[in-house]
Amino acid sequence: MSSTVLSVVGARPNFMKLAPLARALAARPTVHHIVVHTGQHYDAELSDAFFRDLDIVPPDCNLGVGSGSHGQQTGAVMQRLEPLCVELRPDVVIVYGDVNSTMAAALVAAKLGTRVAHVEAGLRSRDWSMPEEINRVVTDRVSDLLFAPSRDAVVNLRAEGVSAERIHFVGNVMIDSLVAALPAAREANAPSRYGVAGCPYTLVTLHRPSNVDDPVVLGELVETLTALAVHAPVLFPVHPRTRARLEAAGLVRAPVPGLQWLDPLPYLDMLSLVLAAGVVVTDSGGLQEETSYLGVPCVTVRPGTERPITCLEGTNRLVPPRRDAIERAVLDARRTRPSAPPVIERWDGDAAGRIAAVLCDGNRFD
Ligand code: UD1
Repeated sequence: MSSTVLSVVGARPNFMKLAPLARALAARPTVHHIVVHTGQHYDAELSDAFFRDLDIVPPDCNLGVGSGSHGQQTGAVMQRLEPLCVELRPDVVIVYGDVNSTMAAALVAAKLGTRVAHVEAGLRSRDWSMPEEINRVVTDRVSDLLFAPSRDAVVNLRAEGVSAERIHFVGNVMIDSLVAALPAAREANAPSRYGVAGCPYTLVTLHRPSNVDDPVVLGELVETLTALAVHAPVLFPVHPRTRARLEAAGLVRAPVPGLQWLDPLPYLDMLSLVLAAGVVVTDSGGLQEETSYLGVPCVTVRPGTERPITCLEGTNRLVPPRRDAIERAVLDARRTRPSAPPVIERWDGDAAGRIAAVLCDGNRFD
């Protein structure tokens, strides 16, 4: 029987999760897959570049919601998506990850009585000051099909009373994208282009409100990067949110020896830089997973993580946003680099195939 599947994506980390599932669904002749971009991320470097690098066909529709407060952004997605769902009458709406667009789309579909499937369900930081934690919990609560990336996510959902039939432990779709992109990322040879080939450089990304919104915290982080750059080159692709906060705090991107301030990087360049990094310092969710899969040491500047498996089985460690703690963790991470990448259950490049098998064939993955 044929079915209409509507995927809703909005922000950079959603695109990496959509790509492998879009490919898996394209191979199913009975599925009509429609992709809606909410427009939460609209800069070419945060959006178009990812569709290009991940080889995703352009979205069928862009809602153009843009930036705004959380209420404005969430409300705008809901208002603009609802009539589209009424018109297209999808059999299932698929939402990805934990951004504002994810929760907004899940609410629209649930209120219309349409089945909701959540890719990357069950992750919990238990930190309610993170907008993403609210998005995760609300999205999971209204979802009918919950696709968990790791066993801890299954445990979280069961503890919240979600019935076992609705949960599928399919693995991590981010790793599907990574596995598919590895040959091209190796070819991209970004370290040579940035003049750091053969150096044990530090690759940095920071954009969480808890790290960049308070000028004192942000100032200490910039001081830390300046200190790290004395020992090894530091590459820092700066998210637009961070760029705005740096400018507002008067921490203009002044030249610092050894530190390269970069614009946000396309997926393949970023992956190419992660592959050869000495250590990654980040507050991103995806990079905690990618570094773990690749066996690259990672220092995450956050008090907790919704991805504990990256600390327990992967290469990740958590630190507060303080110079002494980060410097110590970076040294320690470099010293204890594993000789081979860890193997994490169902982080194997086939998660999207399992999701398609659940959606189209009624398979189960416990
Ligand atoms: C969003 C997600 C976060 C994810 C991140 C990845 C939420 C709550 N947060 O955070 O989980 O890790 O994406 O990038 O959904 N901006 C631009 N150009 C753009 C988009 C944003 O300049 O294309 C600037 C705007 O000033 C905007 C700010 O960045 O106000 C924040 O954008 P927003 O989409 O609200 O959240 P992110 O910080 O990107």
